[in-house]
Amino acid sequence: MRALLLSSPAETHELGRRLGVALPPGACLALSGDLGAGKTALVRGIAEGLGVPSLIQSPTFVLVQIHEGGRLPLWHADLYRLGDASELDELGLDAMAPETVLAIEWASRFPELLPADRLEIRLEDAPRGRRAELSATGARHAALEGLDV
Ligand SMILES: Nc1ncnc2c1ncn2[C@@H]1O[C@H](COP(=O)(O)OP(=O)(O)OP(=O)(O)O)[C@@H](O)[C@H]1O
Ligand SMILES: [Mg+2]
Repeated sequence: MRALLLSSPAETHELGRRLGVALPPGACLALSGDLGAGKTALVRGIAEGLGVPSLIQSPTFVLVQIHEGGRLPLWHADLYRLGDASELDELGLDAMAPETVLAIEWASRFPELLPADRLEIRLEDAPRGRRAELSATGARHAALEGLDV
């Protein structure tokens, strides 16, 4: 586990950007934290680090948004409005290419949908900014805990 203090929105973005530069093919980032914690802000940074040219929006009514054109494809999911795990199965996360990076907001709502090997990122309010906690659950993501930030 690695804990970081992010004292401004720019630092949240920069953590994402560095992750985006370092992510291995097939990475899964399971993001959790309250409304407005900074999950989407982090994904914007990740997209920049991957070189994704398109705009990252809050998925709101779209469960998964696909962004091509970066170093690796980025699938951005938001499970906030997902009622049942089977709804996501229908969307076919299985159709993801193996090198795809998956960033999931509100991941902790459906732990059964998550790959066993992932990087969990918890964001929470801190007296000045946000506290980010990074925990790898398997070998593929272990090195990311030691990210140079
Ligand atoms: N380290 C930080 N310190 C202070 N404010 C921050 C920090 N990081 C991000 N923010 C601000 O917090 C808000 C985060 O909004 P964002 O949409 O990313 O949250 P979210 O976790 O995706 O919320 P939701 O659950 O609604 O999807 C933005 O207004 C952003 O500027
Ligand atoms: Mg969001």
